[in-house]
Amino acid sequence: MTQKPITKIQGEYIPPGDKSISHRAAMLGALADGTSEFSHFLESEDCFRTIDAFRVMGATYKFKTSETQTGSRTTKLIVTGVGLNGLRAPESALYLGNSGTTMRLMLGILAGQSFETRLTGDPSLSARPMKRVTEPLRKMGAEISGKDDANFAPLAIRGGELSGIQWTNQFASAQVKSALLLAGLYAQGSTRVTEPLPTRDHTERLLRLLGVPVEASKSGVAVRRVSTLHPIHMRIPGDFSSAAFFIAAALIVPHSDLRVLDVGLNPSRMGFYHVLKQMGADIKIERQDHGEEPIGDLRVKTSSLKGIDLDPRMVPLLIDELPILMVLCALAQGTTRIRGARELRVKETDRLRSMTEGLKTIGARIEECDDGCTIEGVREFASGSVSSYQDHRTAMSFLIAGLRAKGNVVVRDADCVKISYPDFEGDLKRICS
Ligand code: S3P
Repeated sequence: MTQKPITKIQGEYIPPGDKSISHRAAMLGALADGTSEFSHFLESEDCFRTIDAFRVMGATYKFKTSETQTGSRTTKLIVTGVGLNGLRAPESALYLGNSGTTMRLMLGILAGQSFETRLTGDPSLSARPMKRVTEPLRKMGAEISGKDDANFAPLAIRGGELSGIQWTNQFASAQVKSALLLAGLYAQGSTRVTEPLPTRDHTERLLRLLGVPVEASKSGVAVRRVSTLHPIHMRIPGDFSSAAFFIAAALIVPHSDLRVLDVGLNPSRMGFYHVLKQMGADIKIERQDHGEEPIGDLRVKTSSLKGIDLDPRMVPLLIDELPILMVLCALAQGTTRIRGARELRVKETDRLRSMTEGLKTIGARIEECDDGCTIEGVREFASGSVSSYQDHRTAMSFLIAGLRAKGNVVVRDADCVKISYPDFEGDLKRICS
């Protein structure tokens, strides 16, 4: 894809449904006793991998599509569950594509099933570490095999009689926490997860809505075995991580004024917002509703940004926004230091490497270190051709960088944006002038 510089961003924008919540909705809906409805479900490649897997195991999914007030597409997911113990064994391996969330969370659910399941993925997913999930699940009683002592897919898992676990997570990872809580729904006794830093709490919120008592305190999050999940109706908020690309666009394109409507404002996802404020961005929350998931509207205007020393404790609260934050820091006045972000090296690609290489190609002044990078801001980017490394967030970060370049920025293999944001191009067109 080729991105040209543009002169202005204006209007109203509704981001697509939240990816993390959409995965959880498709999974927990499949385990509920009855039919659930989730409006503004994210129809992306990753979420379809979750749906395909649970369809094979017996859940039923239907979609109803309509148009939002800004002309984008929105879909209601209607899922009929089979109950916590109603899944049937798949006949062949389940292919989970690029989706780390599907693989890690599913491992938790499959740990509670007495049949064997094999899980495979694309080359990127097959290179992502799974031991962080398979090790505690084995301790709970699941049998799991796979490359390097079950660290890499393909994996085979056979569950059954699980015992609860008190697990201190070495990584600040919502995927690990969620996998263990989901396994905890099938385990004898209590399952408690303690994290080094707080991570997104969508699993906890959704479980409570489905009737599961979830205990959350300083000593972690805990669940116990339950016999049923109640079906629910819910509207999925706009994905703050997808909106981040458009927020960034409005900040760096001159004369911009963008209203972002119905976006998720869950505090465990708001790190990017707080860091932007620290950088001097003109961004404010215009409306905020505190429902099952906080949601609201933002207004963003062109801003001159300044570099920052990123507090490493913020990293889990903006983990998926770090690539686009690096783009913004590369255009901010002064020096930015990002540390404590080693987890970026085990995302869909090594994002510290992909972003540093691409940003250098388009004239940014950036040096990578083991757990982060140091950036000196420039006024605008040069034209150039960069690789997405088949990583959706790397691709979208460079497409946005192209809006503030001297000439065209070509992003190779940009088709991967459909993994989390199928209509990225259409949404960008609607607000560009
Ligand atoms: C996610 C958690 C994060 C995030 C990913 C989605 C989730 O991963 O990067 O895109 O839905 O739980 P980690 O848990 O590995 O940090």
